[in-house]
Amino acid sequence: MTHEKATDHLARTGPAALWERLGAALYDPFLARGERLGMSERRAALLSEARGRVLEIGAGTGLNLAHYPATVEELMLSDPVIPMAERSRARVAESESRRGLHVVEAPAEELPFSSASFDTVVSTMVLCTVADVEAALSEIARVLRPGGQLLFIEHVHVQGTRLGRWQLRMAGLWAILAQGCRCDRDLVSAISSQFDVRVASPAEWTGMPALVRPLVVGSATPARVARHGSWAHHAADRTDQEVATPSGSPVEVRR
Ligand SMILES: C[S@@+](CC[C@H](N)C(=O)[O-])C[C@H]1O[C@@H](n2cnc3c(N)ncnc32)[C@H](O)[C@@H]1O
Repeated sequence: MTHEKATDHLARTGPAALWERLGAALYDPFLARGERLGMSERRAALLSEARGRVLEIGAGTGLNLAHYPATVEELMLSDPVIPMAERSRARVAESESRRGLHVVEAPAEELPFSSASFDTVVSTMVLCTVADVEAALSEIARVLRPGGQLLFIEHVHVQGTRLGRWQLRMAGLWAILAQGCRCDRDLVSAISSQFDVRVASPAEWTGMPALVRPLVVGSATPARVARHGSWAHHAADRTDQEVATPSGSPVEVRR
């Protein structure tokens, strides 16, 4: 599958930029019914688990902002789509407590943050849209501190059902209409390939089109990998510019 580069958003001009602006303007009204019918509550329940220094990827218009507990020390909202980031920024400006709140334009596949620098990463309905799910997850694992966790709500493909077959059939058209969002991704498997999934509960995004209604809500920690006879954190592999090979000689880590 060919994908646009994650950083392409940051350089959009002409009709593509207009389309993104329209998408950002319509986003909150499009989600409003679903928020009233349970998504808002679901966000609050998930985010009550957020701790310490928090990074939210694909923060969109900032719908999660109101739901973070006051105990969060610092909150970084990121999104590569400039009109989305602008809306987040406006929400931050209106919020009562602006201390420790930041908005940054960046794709999840290339996070401009040091390794092991966050206690929590939040992703709500974002892995459906990122250009490269594997790269985004590996970046999330890299920026999480040991013991840190990914909190997620994602809409997913359901296999072996009539709806699942529709999700496969309609995925291309849906992606065109919904700014790159894919309704055919098995995101639990994708997350499990790099994380230890602690919780993954099925849920339904009531009030939204059937294609994106099946949700999974949960938390995960970066998987630990065996290295040099001891256990190491995935993130630690990418913290350094180099890691030792089994023979002991250093090799460059692909970024
Ligand atoms: C369906 S919206 C979800 C917004 C928000 N997280 C929420 O819960 O309402 C998907 C978001 O992912 C953002 N996005 C698109 N490509 C991305 C990428 N490569 N990395 C991170 N976010 C991306 C979009 O700009 C959009 O804001």
